[in-house]
Formats: sequence, C-alpha cells, structure tokens
Amino acid sequence: MVKQSENIMDKIVSLAKRRGFVFQSSEIYGGLNGCWDYGPLGVELLRNVKDAWWKAMTFRDNIEGLDASILMHPRVWEASGHVENFTDPMVDCKSCKARYRVDILLDELSTKKKKETLREMFPGKFEGQQKDEIIESEFAKIANDDNALRSLLSALSCPQCGNKSTFTDARKFNLMFKTFIGPMEDSSAIVYLRPETAQGIFVNFLNVQSASRQKIPFGIAQIGKAFRNEINTKNFLFRTREFEQMEMQFFVKPETDETWFEYWREQRMQWFYDLGMRKEKLQWHKHDKLAHYARNAYDIEYQFPFGWGEIEGIHNRTNFDLSRHEEFSGKSLKYFDEEAKEKYVPFIIETSAGASRSCMAFLIEAYREEEARTADGEMETRVVLKFNPKLAPIKAAIFPLVNRDGMPEIAKKIEHDLRPSFRVFYDDSGAVGRRYRRQDEVGTPFCITVDSETLENQTVTIRERDSMEQVRVAISSLKSWLSERL
Ligand code: GAP
Repeated sequence: MVKQSENIMDKIVSLAKRRGFVFQSSEIYGGLNGCWDYGPLGVELLRNVKDAWWKAMTFRDNIEGLDASILMHPRVWEASGHVENFTDPMVDCKSCKARYRVDILLDELSTKKKKETLREMFPGKFEGQQKDEIIESEFAKIANDDNALRSLLSALSCPQCGNKSTFTDARKFNLMFKTFIGPMEDSSAIVYLRPETAQGIFVNFLNVQSASRQKIPFGIAQIGKAFRNEINTKNFLFRTREFEQMEMQFFVKPETDETWFEYWREQRMQWFYDLGMRKEKLQWHKHDKLAHYARNAYDIEYQFPFGWGEIEGIHNRTNFDLSRHEEFSGKSLKYFDEEAKEKYVPFIIETSAGASRSCMAFLIEAYREEEARTADGEMETRVVLKFNPKLAPIKAAIFPLVNRDGMPEIAKKIEHDLRPSFRVFYDDSGAVGRRYRRQDEVGTPFCITVDSETLENQTVTIRERDSMEQVRVAISSLKSWLSERL
C-alpha cells in the first residue's frame, strides 16, 4: 500500500538535509536566501541528471557542446532585451516590510477574493452571479493597466500582516545581478552574472558552426550556472537565485521552424518519461502571452506537492536573437546555405530545462512511503526513493551479514572490485534490515549481502530496492549483472 503524505515537501527537505542531498547555503551564518549547497548524494544526483541530459542531447551527429563564460560583454544583455525587459513588478508592504512580486501576489488570490475586490472597487457592478471566467478576465484587465493596478493594490490586504492599503506603488525590478569587471567600480565597468546560458550559445553560433563544419539544421548544447535576483525565492530548489540550466539552441531554416518545434517538444517530454516520471505527473502548458522574442512557447510542467510548476520551456525564438546580436555587434551572423546558395539568419528552437529544478522534481517523483514488513514480521513505514537506476546517487551497497567468519573481507574485496566501475557503498553496522532501509531512503537500487552461503559457493544475495525481491548471483558475474541493470 502506498501512503503519500500531505506535508511531503517538509519531509523531503528534511530527508535531503539529513542524508546529504541538499543543505542551506552558509547555514552556520543563518543561510543565504535562494541559495543551496548540494551534499555528497545531491551532487551525484544532480550530476546524473546533467549526464543523462548531456548524453540525450549531444550523443547525436547534429548537436555540439559548449561551455561559455558566465560573465559576458554587457552589450549582450542590451541586445537580448534583458536590460530593458528582464524585470518583475514588485511591491512592498509599508507595514510589515514584506516584499511581493505583483503577478504572484495577484495569482495567489482565489476567484472568490478577486470577486470581493472587484465589488469593492466598482460598487454595484459585480453583484450578480458572474461566471468565474468573467471575474478572472476582468481582474486580469485591471492588473495589466498601470493606473487601475494602483487602486487594485489599495483594495488588497498584505498576506503576511493582514493590513489593508499598505502596499507601495508597483516598481520595476531588474532581476540581473550586477558586478564590476576590473578595478574601477563605475558604470563603465558593470557586467552581469548571466541570467540564462542561452546568450553564450547565440554569440558563439558562427564560431561553433565553422569549427565543427555543421550544416543547418544543427544545435548547440550547454549546461551551466545562471543567476536571477528573484524577488521571492520559494519552494526549496524551485525558485532560487543561483541555479543551473541545461539549454540547447537548435538552428533551423526559417520555414522549417514549426516542424522542428514539434520535434523537440516530443523529444523533451520523452526524456522525462524515460527517466521514470509518471505521465500523469507531467503536462503541457501553452503560453498565451508570449515573451518578446517568441513565436510559440510551451512549458513542460511537473505536478509538485505545491501545484503544477514549469521544469522546462520549449520556445520558437524566431530569428530575434541572432538579428539583435547582428544589430548590436555590427557583425554578420548569417548562415550561408551552400546547397540553396542563399544567406539567411537562422530561426532558433530552444529547449531550456532547469537542472536544479528538474533534480528536485526527480527527487519528489522518487519519494514514496510504503507499508512494509520487517524481518520480525512487524509492519512499518518504509521511506524509499524510487529513482531510475541511472539517476540513483549510489548504485549498489555491499554488506557482510555479520562481522566475522571472513565475511567482511569478502565484502570489502567486492567493494574494491566494483568501485572503479560504479558508485558503491560499504556498510557493516546494525541489522541487515536497518541497512536495507538506510539504502532505500537514498534510492540505492541494489544491496549485495555476503552471507554464510557465500562461504560455501561464492555467491551473494542481491536485494532489489522496489520489489524487495532477492536473487543469488555469483561474485564473478556481479559486475556484468549490475552493468546490465544500470
Ligand atoms: N533561455 C530561456 C530561459 O531561460 P526560462 O523559462 O526563464 O527560459 C528555463 O528558464 C528554465 O530554467 C525553467 O524551466 C526552470 O527549470 C529554470 N529556472 C528558471 N528560473 C529559475 C529559478 N529562479 N530557480 C531555479 N530554476 C529556474
């Protein structure tokens, strides 16, 4: 029987800390908001997610890899539109000093609350039984009008202190972190920590194309850190200020963009299925309001315990990016199509996933609480992370059944032989049942036990994490047995 708890996020955050997946950044100083550190098991999980992505994307003949620098020429961010447009409207509560992103503040209101607010703002107008859609669309209209937004904010109460009419006017807040390059701290030395990895790919488009002699259509993939000075960080690794992205930009001939867009949509969703995400936990969200650069955009959303949230975006960015970089740099970024004997600025289909956000989704997806029988026949709750074996931080644990009769020596030898090929873990403390539970909790797919039968016939017991079934395997074939299953 599977029992999923309501306060699942709290349990996962606590397990993540206790077992060394994720720690709060600078914890001994009280933490740094929106920043997290990956511990010994977290770093393996994150690395496995990134490796799976890197293999799926670059083990193809038409995608090249890149690792661009985090700091880029400041004109890049003018060309990309980030200096002007990468802003969120923000308000502060004058009473309790809480800070909110206006869109999130308004999104979190129930339709009932929105109706009450509209009634207060327009006495007599919303007294009837209007449909929810009408209320939602009227409310959205007001939220998008700068003047009306001011009266709307004064009709609302602060969610933290409950006081009414305490919000400041909405102000635009640029999400890019700024710093200075070189010794002068003046405006001519400002550079930004990149808020996305994509721009490093765009500005290197022709470098990569000519060095690799790729022909369009082809892509460039990159994994790397991105930084956003988010107004509200929340939900663990979901919205952080420092995070990692896994982005691929696919350069195509202009008229073929929508075909490639559909191709990449299908490929990217399949990637999550292949790594064990249940279909019912993933959905598409089509963007009605498109970003300034996009012709079409869909998000892959995962059903987190706190609701549906984007884990990856697939965007048809048209020729916006390369055209803008041509305009701002004065350098041609046109591709010469030798077959058609024509020059053009390619269109770009972008697949943009969060490595850290996906890592959290895989952690949540794997988390289960199940009723299981102990060795003494008692029922207990077993916490198990059912990772796809490719993602599991530890692939196999090795136990001597008892710490005598030569069992530890054999188990140590197995550990020594397997370690160059797999991430393995040796554990000889406590009852075997307890050792199984400790490995279940971190998602180790196989536990190998050296027991008295091993002394007679050189075989070991392998216990599988999900089914808890046990098989006997010869020590000599352990490596190939594991390879087949990992
Ligand atoms: N180049 C396009 C781009 O950056 P985005 O939708 O802003 O698009 C892509 O970001 C992905 O990056 C998101 O789907 C999410 O997984 C991840 N991401 C964005 N902001 C994040 C944040 N503050 N914390 C963690 N992950 C984030």
